[in-house]
Amino acid sequence: MNNKIYYGDNLDVLRRFIKDESVDLCYIDPPFNSKRNYNQIYNNIGKEDKAQTQVFTDTWTWDDYAMQGLAEIQSNYNGVFTTQSIDLIQGLTKVLGKGSLLAYLVSMTLRIAEIQRVLKPTGSFYLHCDPTASHYLKLVLDAIFCPKNGNYINEMVWIYSRMAAKGQKQLSRCHDVIFWYSKGKTWLFNVDEIRLPYAETSKARAGYKKTNLGGGSPKSEICELNNIGKFPEDWIQIPFIRGKEYLGYPTQKPEALLERIIKASSNEGDVVLDAYCGCGTTLAVSERLKRQWIGVDITYQSISLVLKRLEDQDKNVLENIEISGIPKDRESAIALANKKDDRLRKEFEKWMVLTYSKNTAVINEKKGGDGGIDGVAYISDRNEKSEIENKKVLFSVKSGKKLNPDNTIDALSGVITREDAACGILLTLYPMPNLVKASKHYGLYHNDLINKDYPKIQVICVEELLNGARLELPNVVAVVKKAEQHQQQLKLG
Ligand SMILES: C[S@@+](CC[C@H](N)C(=O)[O-])C[C@H]1O[C@@H](n2cnc3c(N)ncnc32)[C@H](O)[C@@H]1O
Repeated sequence: MNNKIYYGDNLDVLRRFIKDESVDLCYIDPPFNSKRNYNQIYNNIGKEDKAQTQVFTDTWTWDDYAMQGLAEIQSNYNGVFTTQSIDLIQGLTKVLGKGSLLAYLVSMTLRIAEIQRVLKPTGSFYLHCDPTASHYLKLVLDAIFCPKNGNYINEMVWIYSRMAAKGQKQLSRCHDVIFWYSKGKTWLFNVDEIRLPYAETSKARAGYKKTNLGGGSPKSEICELNNIGKFPEDWIQIPFIRGKEYLGYPTQKPEALLERIIKASSNEGDVVLDAYCGCGTTLAVSERLKRQWIGVDITYQSISLVLKRLEDQDKNVLENIEISGIPKDRESAIALANKKDDRLRKEFEKWMVLTYSKNTAVINEKKGGDGGIDGVAYISDRNEKSEIENKKVLFSVKSGKKLNPDNTIDALSGVITREDAACGILLTLYPMPNLVKASKHYGLYHNDLINKDYPKIQVICVEELLNGARLELPNVVAVVKKAEQHQQQLKLG
């Protein structure tokens, strides 16, 4: 099996593409119902504050999706829902009412039931959440897994530290919860793979016992402790990632945490699924530990970051990955541009800008007042004082069938001047020969650093993008951090 990345809604992907009993281990880290928006943080490049763009929202409302989901659970769609899970959601509808929390739990129930279906009989499922809704999620998990011969194994706790907010009126929330369930009555547990070193105090205590209570030499006991390592507990302390490992992706999880889960519950060659893969922590660790893997995410920013992260880790890795859901022809590009799904707002624009710029552009979320700019990349140039500085390259995406030069090319040229940008690129869904012709009147941009000219405005259509057209400018600055290459496996603890 090739490793696979799916760009799309995981419910749809699970239902259409993932076969019954085909996955050894599934870990998910879905939105937690935190009622927040999460932003990608970019490297500091321009003169402005650190740029950030919303990647995904974690706000739930009782909308058409929730209503449809509730109806699917009640009618046991796909035959995946146990009587207990149907009754539970029915009961929670009464208790919670049709609001944000129920919408979240309906969404999770739909997906967890499919995950239970795709797990192999010896498979394990880890659900990462926090105390916001963990008490409800455990009910959902029990209702889906236990009636079908499954087992609740552990509630793991990941502890981290965090600064208290000014004037905070509660204890600092410093842990996440990870539920571990098995599909059947037997499951894999590679305990020796995840033993942690004993604390020095434990070793000292063991030495003391041997000396004072008899029975062998203290040295050999300590040596034994060193060799075996401590039986793993259901909690682990790992710092929140910042620093080297951090790719600026909100909610990115530490590789050490995933390493522990993957090693404990899978062997080399096993299939690992992450249905909410974010920036690909599970996938990167699975790749390194020689597991097969499947990742799913609904936002293109995540997908492009996963691809970049895997390639940074090993430049040949992309050859063995199947990527599904990304437009491959004009029809699928049109379908993405016309998706009537609020959760997918600006996905078409993001796909075009990130693909054309080879993931070197910052996505611009702002609507109106910014002259229709959807992304900004930066290139090094020399200013009038001969100092090296970063200049903007502006991207504007248009999905209209008919565009006239006045409110596209002229408008873009106006923003280029206003922003003192180097040049601009208009990305269109349909071929636009009239705009290509008009763009030629805007002349050239001269890059002083390498003493070369480039078109001031270029027009690129989807077909060209699909045929491999990519940004060809010198010294484009990286806006997303390069993932580390791992020569050796991570150390836990
Ligand atoms: C908390 S983040 C996961 C972070 C990840 N564990 C990491 O280390 O990078 C949740 C991810 O789920 C994705 N997501 C939300 N709803 C989804 C859905 N219905 N299908 C697929 N992905 C979804 C979001 O785009 C986001 O990237």
